[in-house]
Amino acid sequence: MSENKIRLGVNIDHVATVRNARGGFHPDPVRAALLAEKAGADGITAHLREDRRHIKDSDIERLMQSISIPLNFEMAATEEMLNIATRLKPASACIVPEKREELTTEGGLDVIGGYDHLKPFIAKLTQAGVSVSLFIDPDLKQIQASKDLGADKIELHTGSYVDASGENQLAELERLRAGARLSGEIDLEVHAGHGLDYDTVAAVAEIPEFTEFNIGHFLIGEAIFTGLEASIAHMRTLMNKGRENC
Ligand code: PXP
Repeated sequence: MSENKIRLGVNIDHVATVRNARGGFHPDPVRAALLAEKAGADGITAHLREDRRHIKDSDIERLMQSISIPLNFEMAATEEMLNIATRLKPASACIVPEKREELTTEGGLDVIGGYDHLKPFIAKLTQAGVSVSLFIDPDLKQIQASKDLGADKIELHTGSYVDASGENQLAELERLRAGARLSGEIDLEVHAGHGLDYDTVAAVAEIPEFTEFNIGHFLIGEAIFTGLEASIAHMRTLMNKGRENC
């Protein structure tokens, strides 16, 4: 069981969303990251968006200086972000699609359509010593293309599973299961994330190939009621319970 424990990456973007609502310094996402680390998070995730709507450049720099656990830097496949990632060298970079008008990352990256752009892009990150993850939908062709592109790992988008209900949710869970299985077969490390909460996390944790979940919005929201350490601890308990069933 312990060998097959799922890592929990805590996404702190929405601490910055609240801070930015007033334009000052409080609440500080770096303080939240340090608290998450103390509460047992295995990594911190932060998305520097092109429009800097939540995390800012200085947050990433301060995170790199402050935390002792790995930083997973979410970024669009742009030259600007490539320059930042190769300069700061976070432990890993997760390449996500980014459209300025969307509320959050709404679907996975199309790595088949973007193959020619992504191939040298990933190579540059890898050369800089940054481990590359691709955030994709649980689509078998996209998973195989991610492997062909030389990514170290993928993160399967759990949004469709989380948003569905009943039979549809079971079907979405099966897509995640099939995607994770293929990743295991082709030796591609596989993570999951987006929209996971207390009700939806355990069933995904039962899929044995998943090694890491990245969870943000729910944990930060729940922290308003119970505190961040308690929300992380409870999420961890539910992940472990799911894993015990696999
Ligand atoms: N993983 C990736 C690649 C994401 O883009 C996001 C959202 O920023 C998450 C995980 C976390 O999603 P949520 O905040 O819904 O838990």
